[in-house]
Amino acid sequence: MKLFAALLLALSVTPAHGNPTAKRKTCTIKASGTNKTDDAPAILTAFKECRKHGKIIFEPKTYYVNSALNISGLEDVEIDIQGQLLWSTDILYWLNASLPVGYQNQSTAFILGGNNVRIDGHGVGTFNGNGDYWYEWIKKQPNTSNYPGRPHQITFNGLTNSVVKGLNFLRSQMWTMSIIHSHNSVWEDIFVNNTGNRVSSSNTDGADTFFSSDLLFRNWTVYNGDDSFSCKANSTNITLLDSHFYHGLGIAIGSIGQYNDAFETIENIRAENIYFEDTLHAFYVKTWTDDRVGFPPNGGGGGLGYAENMLMKNLTTKGMRGAAFSISQCTRFNGAPGVGNCTNSQFQVRDIVIDGMKGTTKDRRVVSLQCSAVAPCTDIKLSKVDLKYTNGTVVPNYLCGNVLGNQGWNCTGPVCVGGSATGGC
Ligand SMILES: *[C@@H]1O[C@H](CO)[C@@H](O)[C@H](O)[C@H]1NC(C)=O
Ligand SMILES: *[C@@H]1O[C@H](CO)[C@@H](O)[C@H](O)[C@H]1NC(C)=O
Ligand SMILES: *[C@@H]1O[C@H](CO)[C@@H](O)[C@H](O)[C@H]1NC(C)=O
Ligand SMILES: *[C@@H]1O[C@H](CO)[C@@H](O)[C@H](O)[C@H]1NC(C)=O
Ligand SMILES: *[C@@H]1O[C@H](CO)[C@@H](O)[C@H](O)[C@H]1NC(C)=O
Ligand SMILES: *[C@@H]1O[C@H](CO)[C@@H](O)[C@H](O)[C@H]1NC(C)=O
Ligand SMILES: *[C@@H]1O[C@H](CO)[C@@H](O)[C@H](O)[C@H]1NC(C)=O
Ligand SMILES: *[C@@H]1O[C@H](CO)[C@@H](O)[C@H](O)[C@H]1NC(C)=O
Ligand SMILES: *[C@@H]1O[C@H](CO)[C@@H](O)[C@H](O)[C@H]1NC(C)=O
Ligand SMILES: *[C@@H]1O[C@H](CO)[C@@H](O)[C@H](O)[C@H]1NC(C)=O
Ligand SMILES: *[C@@H]1O[C@H](CO)[C@@H](O)[C@H](O)[C@H]1NC(C)=O
Ligand SMILES: *[C@@H]1O[C@H](CO)[C@@H](O)[C@H](O)[C@H]1NC(C)=O
Repeated sequence: MKLFAALLLALSVTPAHGNPTAKRKTCTIKASGTNKTDDAPAILTAFKECRKHGKIIFEPKTYYVNSALNISGLEDVEIDIQGQLLWSTDILYWLNASLPVGYQNQSTAFILGGNNVRIDGHGVGTFNGNGDYWYEWIKKQPNTSNYPGRPHQITFNGLTNSVVKGLNFLRSQMWTMSIIHSHNSVWEDIFVNNTGNRVSSSNTDGADTFFSSDLLFRNWTVYNGDDSFSCKANSTNITLLDSHFYHGLGIAIGSIGQYNDAFETIENIRAENIYFEDTLHAFYVKTWTDDRVGFPPNGGGGGLGYAENMLMKNLTTKGMRGAAFSISQCTRFNGAPGVGNCTNSQFQVRDIVIDGMKGTTKDRRVVSLQCSAVAPCTDIKLSKVDLKYTNGTVVPNYLCGNVLGNQGWNCTGPVCVGGSATGGC
């Protein structure tokens, strides 16, 4: 069956190794030592010189990144990050100069792409988005959601056969990383802390994937204020292992179905050995309704396609804040939250297995599955579920609407039908 294909695939994500380090052309980047001097030009120069079969070294220093970086087309490059990249906080500059990501009108401070790239932060290399300024600023805006020009910390675009490991990401300006048009690559031993020092952070996802396949994420720790991890349009063969998520929303599928009449899919997603503490969900799926209102990033709807073959194995929760497993097909324009029919989406969610989900929750719902009447959710299998309130009582509620082909469980009541940005009512 397909799930086995996904499992085999994860193990077969084996990026190539390049020539021995000794023979490589090496570019060591000098840090200016002051945030009055932008280190981005020196970084670009080094990458230009060592972009093929080279080695780039960031020394154990702080590099001040005051302008947008687009580093593309690397071939067989080692990137050694021993220091910190610290982004500037000139918000008006970044709103104007951040680069398009290529989806949802999102933008980014840093694009990195290439083939056979091996980035190693050795557990100390750090990308610091200086996000406290952004978290304070966004709270004062009328549009606190996807503000045009607010940058992701980094976007991997066109990264293939590569490994990113041992890096810390602190206080991302917005999402930590977006991954687009990338294939057969690994991100492991990654630590993300987007907890604000002055105000709480928002829209600081751990990672978002789209138009990408054959990706492996292993040993991630994420402290944040939105999706801990999210697979969006055309994410295929994605595996997430051995990770710890704190305070965020959990593993998200979507939102998807935001582009009217566009056909998008999410397929073969597997997560295993994941710990969730104080997250809203463990696993949740969110699709737009069939009524298009406004345009992306904050409006949309009317999308087609399906999300299928998703396996969540050995999930452990502590103090979950919402339904552990949630589906909401009622994502709507956040400027007109009441407009849009929650059960008319043509986007179908099917073939989900939750195999092992135990721990504690504060919410009365184990599952809350609000599916489309037009394209109901099918083949949802649950096994080894053991969720308890902190007083030890087993949580008894499995709420659903338009769910067909349950395996290993029964619905115990009707689900709440309504929209929110975080899945469910
Ligand atoms: C996903 O994995 C399957 C099984 O290994 C493979 O047949 C398929 O081509 C992969 N899909 C993509 C888009 O890489
Ligand atoms: C440099 O750092 C100082 C002190 O942290 C800060 O006030 C200033 O805005 C920074 N300048 C830039 C260009 O980031
Ligand atoms: C906006 O950025 C462009 C280049 O990206 C630049 O030419 C222009 O001067 C900038 N405008 C402002 C107001 O900063
Ligand atoms: C980044 O650089 C690549 C290669 O030069 C170019 O093709 C691409 O359009 C650039 N991306 C953006 C968003 O400017
Ligand atoms: C998309 O972003 C650009 C600037 O980045 C902004 O001018 C435009 O209004 C945004 N479009 C929508 C629909 O939000
Ligand atoms: C997992 O990643 C963390 C950094 O978040 C690192 O300290 C730890 O050594 C890694 N664990 C393994 C088994 O490599
Ligand atoms: C995350 O960052 C916050 C704010 O700086 C800090 O208080 C907290 O200790 C950090 N958490 C971890 C696990 O490093
Ligand atoms: C997304 O995947 C679907 C199904 O394979 C395909 O029809 C569609 O063209 C893809 N979208 C883009 C923008 O590549
Ligand atoms: C299940 O996941 C937890 C981490 O959340 C891990 O400690 C445990 O070893 C895993 N169990 C198995 C059987 O792999
Ligand atoms: C919502 O859409 C469903 C499916 O097309 C339909 O059965 C239902 O009547 C609609 N509800 C409203 C209030 O229009
Ligand atoms: C445990 O807590 C739940 C949720 O608050 C409550 O419904 C239940 O009655 C409690 N059970 C006991 C034995 O106190
Ligand atoms: C679901 O309900 C059916 C019919 O009442 C019953 O036969 C079955 O044992 C129930 N399944 C579970 C897992 O409770």
